[in-house]
Amino acid sequence: MEILRVENITKRFGRFVAVDNVSFTISKGETVAIIGPNGAGKTTLVNVITKKLEPDGGRVFFDGIDITRLPPQKISRLGLIRTFQVVNLFPVLKVRENLALAGLRAGTTGEVESVAEILGIKRYLDKRLVEVPLGVQKLVELGISLLLKPKMLILDEPVAGLGAEDRFNMVKVLLELKKSLNLIVIEHDMDVVFTLVDRIIVMDKGRIIADGKPENIRENKLVKEIYLGGE
Ligand SMILES: Nc1ncnc2c1ncn2[C@@H]1O[C@H](COP(=O)(O)OP(=O)(O)OP(=O)(O)O)[C@@H](O)[C@H]1O
Ligand SMILES: [Mg+2]
Repeated sequence: MEILRVENITKRFGRFVAVDNVSFTISKGETVAIIGPNGAGKTTLVNVITKKLEPDGGRVFFDGIDITRLPPQKISRLGLIRTFQVVNLFPVLKVRENLALAGLRAGTTGEVESVAEILGIKRYLDKRLVEVPLGVQKLVELGISLLLKPKMLILDEPVAGLGAEDRFNMVKVLLELKKSLNLIVIEHDMDVVFTLVDRIIVMDKGRIIADGKPENIRENKLVKEIYLGGE
């Protein structure tokens, strides 16, 4: 059963083609990484899927619905939720308040405690966001996405900027979450990618250059050059 279908998506900035006729289908239950060098078009592709940006061509279907012409709020209400590469929260508010604000939008304020439990951040709930470590802030951001009731969650570099311990924590949480929802991660950390996903889509210069199981992608020449030190 498919959950996301991307058909011939193209996005240009002026004459520059950032996403070039990209197509793929994701099945329910699949956990997918989108990888590729800086500037490959990964974030732009996600921006188009979630309508932060309008595509110049192509169509996107989510859970059987053509979402190509829908505004971002409608898309997130259908359960397609994305996070951003840079944490975007209210620093002076408490962790609890940051989460509750997200809950207000989705009618899930009653679930703040249980989401904090899943994330292992209950003991930080009454601290201001500025007082908690970056690793916890990233988990709060993830919590906000969870309170929006995702069927599919797209994470843009969930472990970027985190130290080893925080990375480990985040991966542990994501391994748990992938049991109950569709995850797509854009990620440069290949340890995280290989630990987490069933399938890897490789982009370069706006195009998909490989798409397959992690063990096959590991053998891909460009992937080796870029991520695995050219072994
Ligand atoms: N709003 C914009 N206007 C003009 N060019 C843009 C815009 N957004 C992205 N680009 C360009 O499109 C290309 C793809 O950018 P994108 O951010 O999608 O790459 P990425 O694969 O997410 O890279 P990274 O791994 O560094 O996050 C880059 O060359 C970038 O400079
Ligand atoms: Mg990016």
